[in-house]
Amino acid sequence: MRDLLPEWVAVEVAGEADYTAELLPDEAAALSVRAVSNRRREFTAGRSCARRALARLGVHGKPLVPSEHRAPVWPQGTTGSITHTAGYCAAAVALSTDVRAVGIDAERRTILPQNVRPAICLPEELAWCARRPDEDWWPAVHFSAKEVVYKLWSPIMGTWLDFMDARLTIDVVRQEFEAEILPEKLAKEPGAPKLFRGRFHAAPDLVRSAGVVIA
Ligand SMILES: CC(C)(COP(=O)(O)OP(=O)(O)OC[C@H]1O[C@@H](n2cnc3c(N)ncnc32)[C@H](O)[C@@H]1OP(=O)(O)O)[C@@H](O)C(=O)NCCC(=O)NCCS
Repeated sequence: MRDLLPEWVAVEVAGEADYTAELLPDEAAALSVRAVSNRRREFTAGRSCARRALARLGVHGKPLVPSEHRAPVWPQGTTGSITHTAGYCAAAVALSTDVRAVGIDAERRTILPQNVRPAICLPEELAWCARRPDEDWWPAVHFSAKEVVYKLWSPIMGTWLDFMDARLTIDVVRQEFEAEILPEKLAKEPGAPKLFRGRFHAAPDLVRSAGVVIA
């Protein structure tokens, strides 16, 4: 994830020890006692990475409990993002004086089933994918980039953003994306950012995407 974000964003990718690290009491309390082992491990790895990233910004020992929207409540003066997928977990954190929001996402790269794609991609995005020689891979990149857009939108606006509310433009060569929030959504959300920008990397087995909204 380091390669996708400005150097002043602290980024930590999980190693094996992060999956079994110690949670702080408030974090352990926030994790349901019924949480299955996988959920416990990914939640723990995310917190452990986030804590290391926060320490690099000079913030120590603060619990990261989930908000009502499930997003972590970041310590005062900071904001960040966590992602986990099978075998990969990362956290990215920055000072609120630098950014309004950070968003990161990692997904195992899969070919999204045909019947799922219209729930993720607008017709014009599907048409763009169809023009690519490797058409079947690109809906997964749209999915990952749109998850980032939601993780940027949510802490700023505190409202839901649907996959159909943003139109992506992907620059394949520069590995960058722009997400334009559609006018119908903007009309209902005064003051919302109109455009989000980010970067992505699509390896054969893993898609990673990230973006920031500058303060
Ligand atoms: C919330 C969501 C984006 C998480 O993405 P995911 O690929 O399922 O899972 P990831 O592992 O990448 O991210 C999970 C982490 O995101 C964070 N997260 C959860 N809700 C969040 C929110 N509202 N805002 C920011 N971060 C959030 C949490 O840290 C969570 O990990 P944790 O529960 O262990 O703390 C996704 O489940 C979702 O609801 N998507 C629908 C909305 C959307 O993407 N719209 C597209 C708009 S263009």
